[in-house]
Amino acid sequence: MFAEVQLKLVPHSRGEESTVYSRLLNEKSASEKIRVSIEEHRQVDVLLEELADMSPRDEEWSAKVHVLADMVGHHVDEEEGELFPMARAVLSAREAAQIAAEYEQARDEAMQAMIGEFEEAEEVEEVEGEEERGAA
Ligand SMILES: [Fe+2]
Repeated sequence: MFAEVQLKLVPHSRGEESTVYSRLLNEKSASEKIRVSIEEHRQVDVLLEELADMSPRDEEWSAKVHVLADMVGHHVDEEEGELFPMARAVLSAREAAQIAAEYEQARDEAMQAMIGEFEEAEEVEEVEGEEERGAA
């Protein structure tokens, strides 16, 4: 369940940063907004990493999930309400379509890489579990 949240948010961030954001950082009118969005991605990363090391039983879990949900909601509103309209204003339709396709590819690659990491971590856990059972 938490892994699904990570898989939704992290590839989105990495995909945008390497495509849409890196292109719009060159635009004077958009660069400050982009820097804010990059910082929001970073704050989301920090919360996700903290949550990944915690258990839902921990006292701070629900507070962190609450803040994460607020941050993501705010970020999405800003992207859809301000950033994407700004992008459409400075990019030609053709470039916008090209960047959208690049974003999707970068996001999907980041997602595949993450799934690979999750699978590796699971295998390590299984081996460790077997070793522990073997030692007992
Ligand atoms: Fe974003």
